[in-house]
Amino acid sequence: MLVNMKKIVEDAAKSNYAVPGFNVFGYEDAAAIVAAAEELDCPVILMTNRDAVAHMPFDILGGVLRGVAENAKVPVCVHLDHGKTFEEAVKAIKAGYTSVMYDGSQLPLEENIKNTKEIVRMAHAVGVTVEAEIGSVGYNDPSIEAKAVYTEPEEAKKFAEETGVDALAVAIGTLHRMETQAAKIQYDRLDKIQELTNVPIVIHGSTGITDDDLQKLAKYRVAKINIGTALRMVFGYKLRETIEANPKEFDRIKFFKEPMEAVRKAAKEKMILLGLGK
Ligand code: G3H
Ligand code: ZN
Repeated sequence: MLVNMKKIVEDAAKSNYAVPGFNVFGYEDAAAIVAAAEELDCPVILMTNRDAVAHMPFDILGGVLRGVAENAKVPVCVHLDHGKTFEEAVKAIKAGYTSVMYDGSQLPLEENIKNTKEIVRMAHAVGVTVEAEIGSVGYNDPSIEAKAVYTEPEEAKKFAEETGVDALAVAIGTLHRMETQAAKIQYDRLDKIQELTNVPIVIHGSTGITDDDLQKLAKYRVAKINIGTALRMVFGYKLRETIEANPKEFDRIKFFKEPMEAVRKAAKEKMILLGLGK
C-alpha cells in the first residue's frame, strides 16, 4: 500500500526499530526490497537518488515505483532523495512521489531554512511529507563536491522548529558511498540532538555503519536509515557474476533473477538488524 512517510517515521521514532530508506534504480531492486518487507511484514521506503532521476524521467520512475508500492501488502513510501530545488520537488510530487527530501545542506543556514519552509508548505498542502538536512553528510567519492559538516545540535533545534519538517537528516559521523562499514558514530552529538529536538531523525550514508551500530541506532529516535551503496554493490556484483557464468545468454530479464534474489536477502538482513520483523 502506498503511503507517505509521516506514520512510518513517527512510529519508528518512538519504537526500538528504524525503517530503511533504500536507494533504488528501477523495478528490479524495488520489487526485491518490497518482497523482503512483505516477508517481515514491515514498512519500507523506496528512494531515488540523483543518478536515478537523471537516468529516467520523474514521471516514468515515479509511475513504476508507485505501482510497486500500490501492489505491496505492507506500507511503502516513494521518496525523492537529495532533491535540490523547489521545481524538482514539484516534479516528483506530480509524478506520484509521496515524500520528498530537500537537501539545502550546502547552503547557509538561513537560506536552507527559507527554502525548506517553502517546500514544506507546498508539499504538506497535498499530503506529501518532507525530509531535510542540517549539517552535511559528505561523500567518500572525490568526484562529488560537497562539504562535510557535523550537525550542531542547537542548529538542529532551530531548523526543526522553524521548518516543520517531518524528518531531519543529521551528520553524526557517516559519509555517503563508503564501501566498508567503517563509520565512527558520534553518540554524544546524537544524544544532544535528541535532547533538543522532537523530530524523527534520519541517518544518511548508512552503508558505512557497522552491524552493531545499526542495532544501537535503531533504539534511538532514529526513524529512517538511508542505505544505497550496500545494495547497489550486491546487485552489481551478482549481475556481473551471472553474466560471466552465462556467456551465451543475452536476455537481460534472465540476468536479473539472481541479483534480485541477492538484493531481497541483503535488504532483509538490514531490516532485521534495524529491529524489524519481530
Ligand atoms: O541518501 C542516500 C543514502 O544516504 C545512501 O548512502 O549509499 O552511503 O548507503 P550510502
Ligand atoms: Zn544521502
